[in-house]
Amino acid sequence: MLVDRMETSADSSELWFVDPSHLDSVTTTKEGIVVDSQSAGTYSDIPAEQTKTLLSRLASQPWRQVLKDLYEQQNSWLYRIVTDPSRAMPMELLDFHVGSCCLDVGSGWGQLSIPMSLGGCRVVALDLTLERLRVLRYISGQEGADIALAKGNVLTFPFRPDTFDIALFNGALEWVGTGRGVGQTIRQCQLAALGRAARAGQRGRVSGDGAAHDRRRAAVGRGVESSPAPAGRVAGDGAVLDERRAGRGDEDSAASL
Ligand SMILES: C[S@@+](CC[C@H](N)C(=O)[O-])C[C@H]1O[C@@H](n2cnc3c(N)ncnc32)[C@H](O)[C@@H]1O
Repeated sequence: MLVDRMETSADSSELWFVDPSHLDSVTTTKEGIVVDSQSAGTYSDIPAEQTKTLLSRLASQPWRQVLKDLYEQQNSWLYRIVTDPSRAMPMELLDFHVGSCCLDVGSGWGQLSIPMSLGGCRVVALDLTLERLRVLRYISGQEGADIALAKGNVLTFPFRPDTFDIALFNGALEWVGTGRGVGQTIRQCQLAALGRAARAGQRGRVSGDGAAHDRRRAAVGRGVESSPAPAGRVAGDGAVLDERRAGRGDEDSAASL
């Protein structure tokens, strides 16, 4: 894949969420998408050959009409999860404020990034796929949502510590183990991802599928805890850990759980 890149500079305001000591590991595309050069992994929800058509139509046509034309009949599942506002329902569980700094891990088509941004949050959309972020750039532009776009893997992206008020994994936590190394389990990858998100968050507030967390209480996902959790704990789909083990930069100890 050909990526147009420009040099980044340490004082660029678009890099506010990147660890200052790792600025040399990111580049920025000409459209302003921040790219982690170390990132690995792929994800695909449409055939690669459709991407060019999709992007070209989004450049000049209303995005809802484009998706209706391309996917309502041919891929009704995708059409529904991208266009149905109920996809953003987890936001109702979370304590967003105007000015909240939010990390949307696995942002996809922007189903949560866009409403969070329109609600006044400062949003970083992280996704594995540059092409999906290009799609999101068109959609968010049409919606008037100002979102920072980051291409990378949550397991490696060099986020500036203590940056986010909240990190979301909506429909994403189950995918983070894809492409994992030999000997690593999906659960270890999920725990490592939650730990990294907690470290990027100010107080370790992380929400995964079926999971919401604030400083006092957690309603958590399948097969994990169901009682109030102490401050600093993070919860996600099939995983729970505390900040002593994960949120303070020790993914290896998370992996040993
Ligand atoms: C099912 S989609 C969910 C999209 C959106 N959040 C939603 O609610 O529909 C999963 C997204 O997670 C992204 N993803 C998967 N693994 C990831 C990882 N390790 N780091 C960052 N993004 C990842 C994929 O590229 C994909 O866009």
